[in-house]
Amino acid sequence: MKKFTNEEMAAPNALRVAIDLDSTSESEWLRGMAASETARRKLYWQSPPWRSDIRWYSARSERDFARFRSIFEQLGIARHVRPYVDVEREVRLYNSFLVIRSQCTETNFHADWANANNEGFTLLTPLTANSDGFGLLYRKLDGSVGEYEYKAGEALIFGDDFIHSTKPGISADPVVLLCFNFGSDKIEHWPRIERTAARQGILICRPDGRFYRRPMITRFRNGVGRALRKIGLRRPPTGGSPY
Ligand SMILES: [Fe+2]
Repeated sequence: MKKFTNEEMAAPNALRVAIDLDSTSESEWLRGMAASETARRKLYWQSPPWRSDIRWYSARSERDFARFRSIFEQLGIARHVRPYVDVEREVRLYNSFLVIRSQCTETNFHADWANANNEGFTLLTPLTANSDGFGLLYRKLDGSVGEYEYKAGEALIFGDDFIHSTKPGISADPVVLLCFNFGSDKIEHWPRIERTAARQGILICRPDGRFYRRPMITRFRNGVGRALRKIGLRRPPTGGSPY
C-alpha cells in the first residue's frame, strides 16, 4: 500500500497528524529562530521564483542540522510514514526549513513529489499563531481546489502528487512554518528523491546518512532555471519540485 488517499481532504497521499513542538528539548532554540531575524543569520536562506516575500531558512552547519534532526526524532515524525516508505533501518531526514512569509500575491500550484512512489514526504506545521486565512490551497481528487488552514498542534504531511500552493494573503507579522523533507534511507531511491530534497538549502543528508553540500555553481544554475521557468522560457520540472 504505497499510495493512499486522505478521504476527509479528498486528496492523494496526505496526512494530518497531531504534533507538540513544545515537547522537544530544542523547542526554545526553534522558537528563538522563528522569532528573531538576528538569530536566523547563521542559517542559509533562499527565495522561490513566485511573487511572495517567502524565505526558506535551513542549516548551514551539521551542528544546526543535528538540532533540526533532534526535533524530527523527538516528535516521532517517522512513524507516520513508515507504512509507505521503503526503509532498511530508519526513515531519513533529508532537510529542514523555517518557512517565513508575510505576503504572497499569486498562487503557484506544484507537487513537491512526483514519480517518487512515496519514498519522500514533506511536513508543514505552524510555529506562529497568525496563519489564519494564510494557509495552503490544494487540488482535490475531483479537480476542485481545497483549502487547508494551518493549526497549532497539527502537521500536514504529504507525498506524491499532492498539488498545492501557498494561499495568497498578507500578514502584519511574518507567518513562520516548520518544514521537513524525509523518507527512504535506501540510496537506490535517491535519484527520484533528490529532484526535490536536494534542490533546496545548502546542506542535505542523503538516504545513506552522508551529508551533501550543494556547490555554489549548482545553486546558481538552479536559480537561473527557476527564473527562466517563471518567465515561461523553460518548462516546469516533471519530477517534482520543492516550490
Ligand atoms: Fe511545496
